[in-house]
Amino acid sequence: MPEKETDLDLIDQVSRSAKYAQLADTLVSRVTKEEAQKYKNKQEIIRSARTRLHQLTSAYLAPKIDYAQWLYKFQSLDLNDQLTLKATSLSMMRLHASTCERIEVLPTFFQTLLASISPVKSVLDLACGLNPLSIPWMPLADSFTYIASDVVSPLIHFLGVYFELFGYNGEASILDLSFSIPSQPVQLALLMKTLPLMEQIEHGLSQKILENLNAEHILVTYPLRSLGGRKKGMEETYHAQFDQLVAGRDWKIQEFRFPNEVAYLVTK
Ligand SMILES: C[S@@+](CC[C@H](N)C(=O)[O-])C[C@H]1O[C@@H](n2cnc3c(N)ncnc32)[C@H](O)[C@@H]1O
Repeated sequence: MPEKETDLDLIDQVSRSAKYAQLADTLVSRVTKEEAQKYKNKQEIIRSARTRLHQLTSAYLAPKIDYAQWLYKFQSLDLNDQLTLKATSLSMMRLHASTCERIEVLPTFFQTLLASISPVKSVLDLACGLNPLSIPWMPLADSFTYIASDVVSPLIHFLGVYFELFGYNGEASILDLSFSIPSQPVQLALLMKTLPLMEQIEHGLSQKILENLNAEHILVTYPLRSLGGRKKGMEETYHAQFDQLVAGRDWKIQEFRFPNEVAYLVTK
């Protein structure tokens, strides 16, 4: 169905700011149309759409990341020098709230979570943020494939070049999970700190994603702190949400608890 001219105009206005122009079109379009149903005033629609888009994406990222400069830093490294590579990766991971919160536990995080399925041969990292920079801490097979996606285009462009630089058999692409759910077969899909956002976009979307992913294992994690740093009964809430998601399924579930994150390894 052709989009209404007023919708197109509103979407265009929302995207006039560079911060929103760099997000997946499908997400900007969806959120703007939904806000247009709630408000009559054009400025209110634009403001509300931008607020929602910010809460879904840039709220987690440091403002104005100079991706070209980070690429330059990685390109200047001796790729055999694991210590410096890890130190540079950690510095960059601090720029995304989700990876930043994980830094202290990173040496054991993936080793613990993935012990029962390692070495992992193929990974689909959905709504990935800067998590692919954790690859050096993951128990991956010698020749692994890594497919990463998110809705923030400069981040995805950076990851594509980063994969090339390290010679990873990887691919980074823009993918709005509320618009399409990937169907390629993989050993492991990562849905880290992502399902609460999917439920904000559309109630029931988490269930759809879990059901439709063609993955042998899915690592689902939930944050135990809000972006503001407070704990507000999040553990109980997310535990109940996850229980409901997998209720009645014949799936094997392993549960793990870290200081800032609870994780479930689902085996279908
Ligand atoms: C809480 S962060 C988690 C990042 C990463 N998974 C991690 O745990 O380090 C949520 C991520 O979801 C992305 N995102 C938001 N809406 C999305 C959508 N509709 N489809 C795909 N990714 C989305 C954001 O850009 C952000 O990087």
